[in-house]
Amino acid sequence: MHRDDFGPNFTWGVASAAWQIEGAWNEADKTPSIWDHAGHHHKVSGGAVGDVAIDFAHRYQDDLKLVSSLGFGAKRISLSWPRLVPSGTGKASEHGIAFYREVLQACRENGLEPWVTLYHWDLPQSLHVRGGWSSRDSVEWFGDYAQIAAEELGDLVSHWMIANEPSMHALHHLIGCFDHIPSVTRYVRVGHHQNLAIAHAARRMRAALGPDATIGTTHQAMPVWINNEQTEWGKRAVRAYDAILNRMFLDPLGGLGYPWGDAPLVDKVLRKLVREGDEDAMTHRFDFLGVQYYQPQGIKRAPIPGIWGLPIPPHRPPAGFAPTKTALGWLVRPEGLGSVLRRWAGHPVADRLVVTENGAAFRDERVQDADGTPRVHDSLRTWYYRTHLAEVARAIADGIPIDGYFAWSYADNIEWMLGRKPRFGLVYVDYEDDLRRIPKDSALWFQRLLSAETVDG
Ligand code: BGC
Repeated sequence: MHRDDFGPNFTWGVASAAWQIEGAWNEADKTPSIWDHAGHHHKVSGGAVGDVAIDFAHRYQDDLKLVSSLGFGAKRISLSWPRLVPSGTGKASEHGIAFYREVLQACRENGLEPWVTLYHWDLPQSLHVRGGWSSRDSVEWFGDYAQIAAEELGDLVSHWMIANEPSMHALHHLIGCFDHIPSVTRYVRVGHHQNLAIAHAARRMRAALGPDATIGTTHQAMPVWINNEQTEWGKRAVRAYDAILNRMFLDPLGGLGYPWGDAPLVDKVLRKLVREGDEDAMTHRFDFLGVQYYQPQGIKRAPIPGIWGLPIPPHRPPAGFAPTKTALGWLVRPEGLGSVLRRWAGHPVADRLVVTENGAAFRDERVQDADGTPRVHDSLRTWYYRTHLAEVARAIADGIPIDGYFAWSYADNIEWMLGRKPRFGLVYVDYEDDLRRIPKDSALWFQRLLSAETVDG
């Protein structure tokens, strides 16, 4: 594999999200987000681990230097809404603005294009208690926040992404992460309001930033696979899951409306929610679609209709690599990435695609060289990246317009409710030793690839 396989203008980056890395949860005038609240109320493994996270808020200079030294040309960050606008609505914080301006400047000084996600799941808790995403007011709150971000930071940002994976965020509400009882109705409500809010915020940002700004948004792509797809039941089940996991979030933005008829459970809730004019209001053409791929969703006939099981044939890895699941038990299926890139190319939501997240948690092996230099062996992660990147290269060769790839994540961080245990980083974070950073073998593999060496894994 060679970086030339991806073309000369391809963006190579690493991604992260505010709550997962920043820490400084109550520094200056920052107020709690829903994830701070979750951490403080036993909803996150390890408890309040997000309070410090990996302390990016104080270590960003070193972290950005490190990312740059690995050869990457872009850093994806997200803005913490309650850091930038502590009361959720109204006035922006001087501290929040100063902090993000410094981080964005530091990206630029290190030769890293700053790609910024407006919302990566950390709603101000103060808005959550007013109904949060379940309230239709969230659309206006989010629009106002978008405008503030555009006006205060727009001159320093190279690419905007309005939201991170609205489907996954709706799922957090479905499973009751934020002091709610698990509820399908809430999943659909949150989904519909996010859809309206994303298009609305994109329009507000465009109006504030003008025609030259690059504004995209991201979606999780979960291909749904089933062994017996050829049966009528199988085809219907795949359509239903695809509607619930993917299409009810992506299609309305592209002007295709909701996938009515494919998932009756969802239709029932939507019928009460969707008002006249909503389908137009949700439609927006973006400059790029951020594709985020981790795993396919396998399904099989289950005792209760609508509940899923798992077995799909495992991906056969090269000799020497027995496991085909990540440390979280996620199926490793690189061809799933190829399939979603082909499927989403040409979606009316955007002409261009960028892989804005892809990566895996594996168990890393900490060792020391004879001279005491710490090393972290993670050959499975390197294999994961190589096989997934090969799919991207193949899609590009087939003419699919893919402009970049962001590895998730640059360093180990707080994996939402799962806390510190799953390690997704290219850089190891030693939680026992002052959050020391140690580039893993996979980071060094990227460094060789990006310095234009031919690498084979
Ligand atoms: C999210 C990340 C998360 C990653 C791994 C994505 O859905 O955007 O924040 O850490 O998956 O679970």
